[in-house]
Amino acid sequence: MHELAETAKALVAEGKGILAADESDGTIKKRFDSIGVESTEDNRRAYRELLFTADGAEEYISGVILFDETLRQSASDGTPFPKLLESKGVMPGIKVDKGAKPLALAEGETITEGLDGLRERFAEYRELGARFAKWRATYSIGGGKPSEYCVWTNAHALARYAALSQEAGLVPIVEPEVLQDGTHTLEESATATGRVLQAVYTELHDQRISFPGTLLKPNMVLSGYDASERAGVDEVAEATLEVLYRHVPAAVPGIVFLSGGQTDEDATAHLNAMNARGPHPWQLSFSYGRALQAPALKAWEGKPDNVEAAQRAYYHRAKMNAAARTGMYAPEMETAATA
Ligand code: 13P
Repeated sequence: MHELAETAKALVAEGKGILAADESDGTIKKRFDSIGVESTEDNRRAYRELLFTADGAEEYISGVILFDETLRQSASDGTPFPKLLESKGVMPGIKVDKGAKPLALAEGETITEGLDGLRERFAEYRELGARFAKWRATYSIGGGKPSEYCVWTNAHALARYAALSQEAGLVPIVEPEVLQDGTHTLEESATATGRVLQAVYTELHDQRISFPGTLLKPNMVLSGYDASERAGVDEVAEATLEVLYRHVPAAVPGIVFLSGGQTDEDATAHLNAMNARGPHPWQLSFSYGRALQAPALKAWEGKPDNVEAAQRAYYHRAKMNAAARTGMYAPEMETAATA
Protein backbone atom coordinates (compact mmCIF):
# COMPACT_ATOMS: atom_id res chain seq x y z
CA MET A 1 0.00 0.00 0.00
CA HIS A 2 2.97 2.28 0.60
CA GLU A 3 4.04 1.99 -3.06
CA LEU A 4 0.52 2.89 -4.21
CA ALA A 5 0.47 6.01 -2.05
CA GLU A 6 3.89 7.06 -3.38
CA THR A 7 2.74 6.60 -6.98
CA ALA A 8 -0.46 8.56 -6.36
CA LYS A 9 1.51 11.39 -4.76
CA ALA A 10 3.97 11.48 -7.64
CA LEU A 11 1.11 11.75 -10.15
CA VAL A 12 -0.03 14.95 -8.45
CA ALA A 13 3.46 16.31 -7.79
CA GLU A 14 3.67 20.10 -7.59
CA GLY A 15 3.15 21.82 -10.94
CA LYS A 16 2.36 18.61 -12.80
CA GLY A 17 -0.72 16.85 -14.13
CA ILE A 18 -1.83 13.93 -16.27
CA LEU A 19 -2.39 13.69 -20.02
CA ALA A 20 -5.41 11.53 -20.92
CA ALA A 21 -4.44 10.02 -24.29
CA ASP A 22 -6.57 6.92 -23.82
CA GLU A 23 -9.23 7.56 -26.44
CA SER A 24 -10.90 4.28 -27.41
CA ASP A 25 -11.03 3.30 -31.10
CA GLY A 26 -14.40 5.00 -31.52
CA THR A 27 -13.36 8.23 -29.80
CA ILE A 28 -10.03 8.65 -31.58
CA LYS A 29 -11.84 8.10 -34.89
CA LYS A 30 -14.15 11.00 -34.01
CA ARG A 31 -11.14 13.20 -33.18
CA PHE A 32 -9.35 12.24 -36.40
CA ASP A 33 -12.54 12.78 -38.42
CA SER A 34 -12.54 16.38 -37.16
CA ILE A 35 -9.18 16.99 -38.89
CA GLY A 36 -9.82 14.75 -41.90
CA VAL A 37 -7.33 12.04 -40.94
CA GLU A 38 -8.08 8.35 -41.33
CA SER A 39 -7.94 6.39 -38.09
CA THR A 40 -5.44 3.69 -39.03
CA GLU A 41 -3.25 1.94 -36.49
CA ASP A 42 -0.18 3.74 -37.79
CA ASN A 43 -1.80 7.19 -37.76
CA ARG A 44 -2.88 6.59 -34.17
CA ARG A 45 0.67 5.50 -33.34
CA ALA A 46 2.21 8.53 -35.07
CA TYR A 47 -0.12 10.93 -33.28
CA ARG A 48 0.60 9.44 -29.86
CA GLU A 49 4.35 9.49 -30.60
CA LEU A 50 4.08 13.21 -31.35
CA LEU A 51 2.57 13.82 -27.92
CA PHE A 52 4.94 11.54 -25.99
CA THR A 53 8.10 12.97 -27.58
CA ALA A 54 7.14 16.66 -27.27
CA ASP A 55 10.24 18.34 -25.92
CA GLY A 56 9.94 19.61 -22.37
CA ALA A 57 6.34 18.46 -21.77
CA GLU A 58 7.67 16.21 -19.00
CA GLU A 59 8.25 19.37 -16.90
CA TYR A 60 4.47 19.59 -16.57
CA ILE A 61 3.22 16.05 -17.17
CA SER A 62 3.57 13.35 -14.49
CA GLY A 63 1.72 10.54 -16.24
CA VAL A 64 -0.10 9.58 -19.42
CA ILE A 65 -3.20 7.38 -19.62
CA LEU A 66 -2.96 5.00 -22.56
CA PHE A 67 -5.43 2.85 -24.44
CA ASP A 68 -4.71 -0.91 -24.65
CA GLU A 69 -3.44 -0.64 -28.24
CA THR A 70 -1.04 2.22 -27.37
CA LEU A 71 0.48 0.43 -24.37
CA ARG A 72 1.62 -2.24 -26.86
CA GLN A 73 2.94 0.16 -29.53
CA SER A 74 6.42 1.61 -30.02
CA ALA A 75 7.97 4.87 -31.18
CA SER A 76 9.44 4.91 -34.69
CA ASP A 77 12.90 4.09 -33.29
CA GLY A 78 11.46 0.87 -31.81
CA THR A 79 11.26 1.98 -28.15
CA PRO A 80 8.02 0.69 -26.59
CA PHE A 81 5.84 3.65 -25.54
CA PRO A 82 5.79 2.70 -21.82
CA LYS A 83 9.60 2.63 -21.82
CA LEU A 84 9.85 5.89 -23.72
CA LEU A 85 7.60 7.61 -21.18
CA GLU A 86 9.45 6.15 -18.17
CA SER A 87 12.76 7.36 -19.66
CA LYS A 88 11.37 10.91 -19.44
CA GLY A 89 10.14 10.42 -15.90
CA VAL A 90 6.51 10.17 -17.04
CA MET A 91 4.44 7.30 -15.66
CA PRO A 92 2.41 5.16 -18.07
CA GLY A 93 -1.18 4.37 -17.08
CA ILE A 94 -3.93 2.32 -18.69
CA LYS A 95 -7.64 2.75 -19.31
CA VAL A 96 -9.12 -0.61 -18.26
CA ASP A 97 -12.87 -0.12 -18.59
CA LYS A 98 -14.64 -1.42 -21.68
CA GLY A 99 -16.92 1.55 -22.08
CA ALA A 100 -20.31 2.79 -20.90
CA LYS A 101 -23.13 0.56 -22.18
CA PRO A 102 -26.92 0.97 -21.84
CA LEU A 103 -28.04 0.14 -18.29
CA ALA A 104 -30.81 -2.46 -18.42
CA LEU A 105 -34.30 -1.15 -17.56
CA ALA A 106 -33.00 2.43 -17.27
CA GLU A 107 -33.77 4.42 -20.41
CA GLY A 108 -30.92 6.79 -21.31
CA GLU A 109 -28.55 5.67 -18.55
CA THR A 110 -25.31 3.73 -18.73
CA ILE A 111 -23.29 1.19 -16.79
CA THR A 112 -19.57 0.79 -17.40
CA GLU A 113 -18.46 -2.71 -18.35
CA GLY A 114 -15.11 -4.48 -18.04
CA LEU A 115 -14.93 -6.36 -14.71
CA ASP A 116 -14.89 -9.91 -16.12
CA GLY A 117 -11.29 -11.10 -16.49
CA LEU A 118 -9.97 -7.81 -15.10
CA ARG A 119 -7.63 -9.45 -12.56
CA GLU A 120 -5.81 -11.24 -15.41
CA ARG A 121 -5.72 -8.10 -17.56
CA PHE A 122 -4.22 -6.15 -14.65
CA ALA A 123 -1.45 -8.75 -14.32
CA GLU A 124 -0.58 -8.28 -17.99
CA TYR A 125 -0.80 -4.48 -17.86
CA ARG A 126 1.60 -4.45 -14.95
CA GLU A 127 4.03 -6.61 -16.95
CA LEU A 128 3.73 -4.12 -19.82
CA GLY A 129 4.74 -1.29 -17.48
CA ALA A 130 1.48 0.38 -16.40
CA ARG A 131 1.70 2.03 -12.97
CA PHE A 132 -1.83 3.32 -12.67
CA ALA A 133 -5.26 2.73 -14.19
CA LYS A 134 -8.50 4.48 -15.06
CA TRP A 135 -12.18 3.47 -15.14
CA ARG A 136 -14.83 5.95 -16.25
CA ALA A 137 -18.52 5.88 -15.39
CA THR A 138 -20.94 8.39 -16.95
CA TYR A 139 -24.17 9.95 -15.73
CA SER A 140 -26.60 12.35 -17.40
CA ILE A 141 -28.58 15.14 -15.75
CA GLY A 142 -32.29 15.80 -16.37
CA GLY A 143 -35.62 13.99 -16.63
CA GLY A 144 -35.09 12.22 -13.30
CA LYS A 145 -31.51 11.29 -14.18
CA PRO A 146 -29.22 10.20 -12.72
CA SER A 147 -31.41 7.57 -11.03
CA GLU A 148 -30.36 6.04 -7.70
CA TYR A 149 -30.11 2.75 -9.60
CA CYS A 150 -27.55 4.19 -12.05
CA VAL A 151 -25.64 6.01 -9.29
CA TRP A 152 -25.22 2.93 -7.09
CA THR A 153 -24.57 0.30 -9.78
CA ASN A 154 -21.80 2.44 -11.23
CA ALA A 155 -20.36 3.18 -7.78
CA HIS A 156 -20.28 -0.54 -7.04
CA ALA A 157 -18.47 -1.29 -10.32
CA LEU A 158 -15.99 1.57 -9.78
CA ALA A 159 -15.11 0.15 -6.36
CA ARG A 160 -14.73 -3.39 -7.69
CA TYR A 161 -12.32 -2.04 -10.32
CA ALA A 162 -10.44 -0.01 -7.71
CA ALA A 163 -9.98 -3.05 -5.47
CA LEU A 164 -8.60 -5.17 -8.32
CA SER A 165 -6.32 -2.30 -9.33
CA GLN A 166 -4.87 -1.92 -5.83
CA GLU A 167 -4.49 -5.69 -5.51
CA ALA A 168 -2.38 -5.63 -8.70
CA GLY A 169 -0.27 -2.70 -7.43
CA LEU A 170 -1.66 -0.05 -9.77
CA VAL A 171 -3.15 3.23 -8.51
CA PRO A 172 -6.82 3.38 -9.50
CA ILE A 173 -8.01 6.68 -10.90
CA VAL A 174 -11.71 6.64 -10.09
CA GLU A 175 -13.61 8.60 -12.74
CA PRO A 176 -17.31 9.25 -12.20
CA GLU A 177 -18.20 11.77 -14.92
CA VAL A 178 -21.47 13.63 -14.58
CA LEU A 179 -21.89 14.82 -18.16
CA GLN A 180 -22.45 18.55 -18.46
CA ASP A 181 -24.46 18.46 -21.69
CA GLY A 182 -27.96 19.91 -21.58
CA THR A 183 -29.66 22.94 -20.08
CA HIS A 184 -29.27 22.21 -16.34
CA THR A 185 -28.39 24.87 -13.80
CA LEU A 186 -25.21 25.03 -11.74
CA GLU A 187 -27.23 23.89 -8.70
CA GLU A 188 -28.56 20.85 -10.54
CA SER A 189 -25.03 19.90 -11.53
CA ALA A 190 -23.88 20.30 -7.92
CA THR A 191 -26.69 18.08 -6.63
CA ALA A 192 -26.06 15.32 -9.19
CA THR A 193 -22.29 15.44 -8.67
CA GLY A 194 -22.71 15.30 -4.90
CA ARG A 195 -25.03 12.28 -5.07
CA VAL A 196 -22.61 10.46 -7.35
CA LEU A 197 -19.58 11.17 -5.15
CA GLN A 198 -21.45 10.16 -2.00
CA ALA A 199 -22.21 6.74 -3.51
CA VAL A 200 -18.69 6.34 -4.90
CA TYR A 201 -17.00 6.99 -1.54
CA THR A 202 -19.45 4.74 0.29
CA GLU A 203 -18.65 1.84 -2.06
CA LEU A 204 -14.89 2.53 -2.08
CA HIS A 205 -14.94 2.46 1.71
CA ASP A 206 -17.07 -0.69 1.91
CA GLN A 207 -14.87 -2.48 -0.61
CA ARG A 208 -11.74 -1.81 1.50
CA ILE A 209 -9.99 0.65 -0.78
CA SER A 210 -6.99 2.43 0.72
CA PHE A 211 -7.69 6.08 -0.07
CA PRO A 212 -4.06 7.31 -0.06
CA GLY A 213 -3.43 4.96 -3.00
CA THR A 214 -6.18 6.42 -5.20
CA LEU A 215 -6.93 9.54 -7.21
CA LEU A 216 -10.36 10.96 -8.04
CA LYS A 217 -11.10 12.19 -11.57
CA PRO A 218 -14.38 14.10 -11.41
CA ASN A 219 -16.20 16.57 -13.61
CA MET A 220 -16.27 20.20 -12.58
CA VAL A 221 -19.66 21.54 -11.53
CA LEU A 222 -20.86 23.59 -14.52
CA SER A 223 -24.08 25.02 -15.90
CA GLY A 224 -25.23 22.81 -18.78
CA TYR A 225 -23.46 23.63 -22.05
CA ASP A 226 -26.84 24.63 -23.54
CA ALA A 227 -28.14 26.52 -20.49
CA SER A 228 -29.35 30.04 -21.29
CA GLU A 229 -27.42 31.60 -18.41
CA ARG A 230 -24.08 30.02 -17.64
CA ALA A 231 -22.11 30.43 -14.42
CA GLY A 232 -18.80 32.27 -14.61
CA VAL A 233 -15.35 31.14 -13.50
CA ASP A 234 -15.68 32.13 -9.83
CA GLU A 235 -19.10 30.53 -9.41
CA VAL A 236 -17.89 27.30 -11.03
CA ALA A 237 -14.83 27.20 -8.77
CA GLU A 238 -16.89 27.78 -5.64
CA ALA A 239 -19.66 25.31 -6.52
CA THR A 240 -17.14 22.61 -7.43
CA LEU A 241 -15.12 23.11 -4.24
CA GLU A 242 -18.25 23.02 -2.09
CA VAL A 243 -19.24 19.62 -3.48
CA LEU A 244 -15.72 18.22 -3.17
CA TYR A 245 -15.34 19.43 0.43
CA ARG A 246 -18.59 17.75 1.34
CA HIS A 247 -17.90 14.38 -0.27
CA VAL A 248 -14.21 13.62 -0.85
CA PRO A 249 -12.17 12.31 2.12
CA ALA A 250 -9.02 14.25 2.98
CA ALA A 251 -7.08 10.95 2.81
CA VAL A 252 -7.39 11.10 -1.00
CA PRO A 253 -4.11 12.71 -2.15
CA GLY A 254 -5.32 14.29 -5.36
CA ILE A 255 -8.24 15.29 -7.51
CA VAL A 256 -7.42 15.33 -11.21
CA PHE A 257 -10.24 16.90 -13.17
CA LEU A 258 -11.43 15.82 -16.61
CA SER A 259 -12.15 18.62 -19.06
CA GLY A 260 -15.35 17.12 -20.46
CA GLY A 261 -15.94 19.36 -23.44
CA GLN A 262 -15.06 22.73 -21.89
CA THR A 263 -12.90 24.93 -24.10
CA ASP A 264 -9.24 24.47 -23.25
CA GLU A 265 -8.95 27.95 -21.81
CA ASP A 266 -12.06 27.51 -19.64
CA ALA A 267 -10.67 24.24 -18.27
CA THR A 268 -7.46 26.05 -17.36
CA ALA A 269 -9.21 29.09 -15.85
CA HIS A 270 -11.53 26.95 -13.71
CA LEU A 271 -8.67 24.88 -12.31
CA ASN A 272 -6.73 28.05 -11.61
CA ALA A 273 -9.62 29.68 -9.74
CA MET A 274 -9.94 26.62 -7.49
CA ASN A 275 -6.25 26.57 -6.70
CA ALA A 276 -6.26 30.31 -6.06
CA ARG A 277 -8.69 29.54 -3.22
CA GLY A 278 -6.29 27.00 -1.65
CA PRO A 279 -4.63 25.41 0.15
CA HIS A 280 -7.00 22.43 0.04
CA PRO A 281 -6.81 18.99 1.69
CA TRP A 282 -5.98 17.41 -1.69
CA GLN A 283 -3.84 18.47 -4.63
CA LEU A 284 -6.11 19.88 -7.33
CA SER A 285 -4.74 18.96 -10.73
CA PHE A 286 -5.73 17.97 -14.25
CA SER A 287 -6.13 14.79 -16.26
CA TYR A 288 -7.34 16.42 -19.44
CA GLY A 289 -7.88 14.79 -22.80
CA ARG A 290 -9.43 17.33 -25.14
CA ALA A 291 -8.30 20.41 -23.18
CA LEU A 292 -4.64 19.36 -23.54
CA GLN A 293 -4.83 17.97 -27.05
CA ALA A 294 -7.31 20.02 -29.08
CA PRO A 295 -4.88 22.69 -30.37
CA ALA A 296 -2.21 20.06 -31.08
CA LEU A 297 -4.61 17.89 -33.05
CA LYS A 298 -5.68 20.89 -35.10
CA ALA A 299 -2.10 21.96 -35.79
CA TRP A 300 -1.08 18.43 -36.80
CA GLU A 301 -3.68 17.63 -39.49
CA GLY A 302 -1.93 14.28 -39.98
CA LYS A 303 1.06 15.91 -41.72
CA PRO A 304 4.65 15.05 -40.72
CA ASP A 305 5.66 18.67 -41.49
CA ASN A 306 3.30 19.89 -38.78
CA VAL A 307 4.61 17.67 -35.99
CA GLU A 308 6.73 20.39 -34.41
CA ALA A 309 3.93 22.95 -34.44
CA ALA A 310 1.60 20.38 -32.88
CA GLN A 311 4.14 19.59 -30.18
CA ARG A 312 4.51 23.29 -29.39
CA ALA A 313 0.73 23.62 -29.07
CA TYR A 314 0.57 20.66 -26.68
CA TYR A 315 3.54 21.96 -24.66
CA HIS A 316 1.84 25.33 -24.35
CA ARG A 317 -1.39 23.85 -22.93
CA ALA A 318 0.58 21.67 -20.53
CA LYS A 319 2.43 24.76 -19.33
CA MET A 320 -0.75 26.81 -18.90
CA ASN A 321 -2.39 24.04 -16.89
CA ALA A 322 0.73 23.67 -14.76
CA ALA A 323 0.40 27.40 -14.01
CA ALA A 324 -3.25 26.80 -13.08
CA ARG A 325 -2.07 24.35 -10.45
CA THR A 326 -0.52 27.24 -8.54
CA GLY A 327 -3.40 29.68 -8.92
CA MET A 328 -1.02 32.00 -10.82
CA TYR A 329 -2.43 31.53 -14.33
CA ALA A 330 -3.76 34.59 -16.13
CA PRO A 331 -5.39 34.61 -19.60
CA GLU A 332 -2.73 37.09 -20.77
CA MET A 333 -0.19 34.28 -20.47
CA GLU A 334 -1.84 32.60 -23.44
CA THR A 335 -0.63 35.17 -25.92
CA ALA A 336 2.57 36.18 -24.08
CA ALA A 337 3.86 32.62 -24.25
CA THR A 338 3.14 32.07 -27.93
CA ALA A 339 4.27 35.51 -29.17
P1 13P B 1 -11.58 15.00 -21.45
O1 13P B 1 -10.63 15.86 -20.66
O2 13P B 1 -11.51 15.23 -22.93
O3 13P B 1 -12.96 14.99 -20.89
O4 13P B 1 -11.04 13.50 -21.33
C1 13P B 1 -10.66 13.05 -20.10
C2 13P B 1 -10.95 11.62 -20.02
O5 13P B 1 -10.07 10.83 -19.77
C3 13P B 1 -12.34 11.17 -20.22
O6 13P B 1 -12.45 9.84 -19.82
